[in-house]
Amino acid sequence: MTKMQGIVLNDASPQLRNDLPIPPIGAGEVLVKILYTTVNGHEIDLATDKAMQFLNKLMGARGDVKTGLEFSGIVESDGEVFTTGDKVLGYVHLVKGWKPHAEYIAIPEQYLAPLPASLPVTDAAALPMSAMTALVALRDIAHIQDGDSVLILGASGGVGVMAVQIASILGAKITAVASAKHHELLTELGADTLIDYKTTDITQTTAKYAMVLDLTTNYRFKQIRHLLDDDGYFIPANPFNSLLDMLRYRKAVRWLYVDKGDSKMLAELVHWATTGKLKSIIDSQFDLTDYKDAFDHAMSRGKSGRILLKIGEDV
Ligand SMILES: NC(=O)c1ccc[n+]([C@@H]2O[C@H](COP(=O)([O-])OP(=O)(O)OC[C@H]3O[C@@H](n4cnc5c(N)ncnc54)[C@H](OP(=O)(O)O)[C@@H]3O)[C@@H](O)[C@H]2O)c1
Repeated sequence: MTKMQGIVLNDASPQLRNDLPIPPIGAGEVLVKILYTTVNGHEIDLATDKAMQFLNKLMGARGDVKTGLEFSGIVESDGEVFTTGDKVLGYVHLVKGWKPHAEYIAIPEQYLAPLPASLPVTDAAALPMSAMTALVALRDIAHIQDGDSVLILGASGGVGVMAVQIASILGAKITAVASAKHHELLTELGADTLIDYKTTDITQTTAKYAMVLDLTTNYRFKQIRHLLDDDGYFIPANPFNSLLDMLRYRKAVRWLYVDKGDSKMLAELVHWATTGKLKSIIDSQFDLTDYKDAFDHAMSRGKSGRILLKIGEDV
C-alpha cells in the first residue's frame, strides 16, 4: 500500500482525497497511523487569509495546504525513542511538514509522547496542540505564578479550556471571557471570574492583569494596554496580526508560536491529564466520511473545546 486517504484544502474548501502518498519517513521521524485528530478553524483561516499564506510560505510551507494540528495514533515504524506498536499522542509544526487529517503521518519523534492506557485515544487527540499552546503562553512566556491575575479572551475554545485549567494549576487568579452558556463549564475548570463578551466590552473594563491571552484574535494592543500591570504581557494567539506592536512594544507584546517539538513538555501535560488535573473537553465527534460537516461545525460559533475527527480503528 503506497496511497492513503487525507484532507487537502482546495481554496478554502476541504477535499478528501484517496490518492495521497503515504509519507516517506525522514531522519529522526517515525510513521504514525492516525486514530483521532481534531478539526480547528486554523486551516480555514490560513486558506482564506492572503497575508497569512504569504507569511506561511516565508516560514517554509510548501505545496497543498494539508490540515490538522494534533492527534492520537499508533507508531508503525521503529525510531530511536518509539517502536512499532507504541501508542502515542502528538502535534505538528504549524507550518511545515505532514499533517494528521490523513491515515498516516511521518513526524519527528520530539513531537510525540507516549500515550498511557489510562488516557482514552479520544481525549488524547484533543490535548497536544491546545494544551502546549496554553502552557507555552502561560509559563514559558508570561512566567505566570501563584497569585498572578490572568485574563483569557476566548476561554471556551479549544485552547481556552486548556488555558483556564493550566492557569489554575499554576495558581493564577483567572478571569475568563466567553459567552454565558459556557460559564458553568469554565467555573468547573477553575475560572474565578466570568465575563460574557456579548454583554460586556472587555476593552471598557478597568481591572489589571499580569497577562492577557487573546485566543479570539479580535483585539489589538492599544485596546488592551490599560488592562496590563506595569510589567504585564499581551499575548495574541495570532502573532501575525500584531507584528508591528511586537516591534514597537517588545517587552509587553509577546510572540506565541508553537513550532518546536517538546516531548518532555507534552509528557508533563499527559501526566496532568492522567492524574485528573487536566481534562479534555470534547465538543463533538465526526467520522472521516463526514469531514465536511466537521469543518462546517468548526467554522460555527458557540462550541466548547475540541471537535474530534475519527480517522483509524484502534485495533
Ligand atoms: N500561536 C500559536 O502557536 C497557536 C497555536 C494553536 C492555535 N493558535 C490560534 O489560537 C486561536 C484559538 O484557537 P482555538 O483552537 O482555541 O480556536 P476556537 O476553538 O475557535 O476558540 C476561539 C474562541 O473564541 C471565542 N470568541 C470569539 N470572539 C470572542 C470575544 N470577543 N470574546 C471572547 N471570546 C470570543 C469563540 O467563542 P464563540 O464561538 O462562543 O463566539 C471561541 O470559543 C486561533 O486563532 C488559533 O489559530 C495559535
